[in-house]
Amino acid sequence: MIKRRQFLAELSTTGLAIALPYAKSENLLRAKGQSTRSKANIDWAAVREDFLASKAAVINLNNGSSSNMPVPVLDEYTRLTREVNSFAPYHVMSSWKDIYKTNLKRLAALTGAENGHLAFVRNTTEAVNIILSGINWQKGDEIITANWDYPFVEYSVDQLRRKHGIKVVNIDHHLPGLSDEDIIKKFKERISAKTRLCIVTWMTHREGQILPLEKICKTAHQLGVKVLADGAHMVGQCRIDLSKSRVDYFASSLHKWLNAPLGSGMLYIRNDRMEEHFPYLSIDPKMESSPSKYEYLGTRPFQNLAALGSAIDYLELTGIDAKQSRLHELSSYWINTAQDFRNVIIHTDTDRCCACAAFSIGNMPSGKIKKQMAEEFGVHLKSSAIGKTPTIRVSPNIYTNFKDLDRFLEGLESIASKY
Ligand SMILES: Cc1ncc(COP(=O)(O)O)c(C=O)c1O
Repeated sequence: MIKRRQFLAELSTTGLAIALPYAKSENLLRAKGQSTRSKANIDWAAVREDFLASKAAVINLNNGSSSNMPVPVLDEYTRLTREVNSFAPYHVMSSWKDIYKTNLKRLAALTGAENGHLAFVRNTTEAVNIILSGINWQKGDEIITANWDYPFVEYSVDQLRRKHGIKVVNIDHHLPGLSDEDIIKKFKERISAKTRLCIVTWMTHREGQILPLEKICKTAHQLGVKVLADGAHMVGQCRIDLSKSRVDYFASSLHKWLNAPLGSGMLYIRNDRMEEHFPYLSIDPKMESSPSKYEYLGTRPFQNLAALGSAIDYLELTGIDAKQSRLHELSSYWINTAQDFRNVIIHTDTDRCCACAAFSIGNMPSGKIKKQMAEEFGVHLKSSAIGKTPTIRVSPNIYTNFKDLDRFLEGLESIASKY
């Protein structure tokens, strides 16, 4: 681990939170080519060079909220942004129609979404709202949620309750300590004849726990209930197969772990579910049986969907399996070290997580930990809470190295020892 004094001296010369400009015009990963790296033996140091954030004075361990484009994707996005600004945007956009089609096909292949309709939207929040608001709710219908769902999903559901008189049946438990079987049982116990939908957060935002989606879908379907998966963190972080999971609706953000441009998300609806589903905004009736009915939004940054192919190209350089295991390795590294620190409590099960995990230091306010980590150790984290327990989420990315984690661990040990 680097010495704290040495780090503070570095900070005083570079300044907190100021990213150094990217010095290379050609990214190392592509320059070196795949021949120098087998899929199983990836040169993660070269990957690191592709991310501007790796040059920042402050280490970003909050990639869960959103991540960044690596330079090759950013370059392509910049090129496309210039292109759309060089002539009439609708004309340029119409010249990208084939690229859009190809990119959506590649996204479907990446997520196993070929058995359904896939629409490119701006983020998970939008996709969840499109799905929820498109169901023809009847007064008294029930929807199952859980304490571990994302707050803005909870707010959307609460709005449905107020608007349509549906009943929200919440799993009022916290995840730490629950086995997969306990979780499935909790969903099952709450399903009644009136239940229309279960919301399942596939990877939770606080503790980063991966839920057994396929088994929950199986249980819900046996009882005639549909499932909406909030998969905000899944695409680009973990290998998924939507067809295999049999999930009915799925929402994800592509700017988190696929490193696509900010404001890129996906919505998926199983084939047999679309006709009965209303779009969010009014559409041309000719769009009724096309997934584009969920995409129509008027004018927007048309270049995002065109740049998606570049984000998928970048993922393919390492492959999803190697990326997933690298992210898991990084989480396991800090968790296995931190769990022996005095006063530190880990809230994540390493067997059921990937890049996101959480800790707390006794009852220390998470805002205070976050501030101290940033100001004294130059580490950016996400503060949160599981119930009344203040927690911090740690989410490294493929550009994170073990030295970064050592600096974080040094800060954690120091702060926790004084608690
Ligand atoms: C589980 C979960 N769902 C939904 C969201 C919302 O994502 P976005 O802001 O990209 O819509 C987040 C954001 O962190 C999340 O963690």
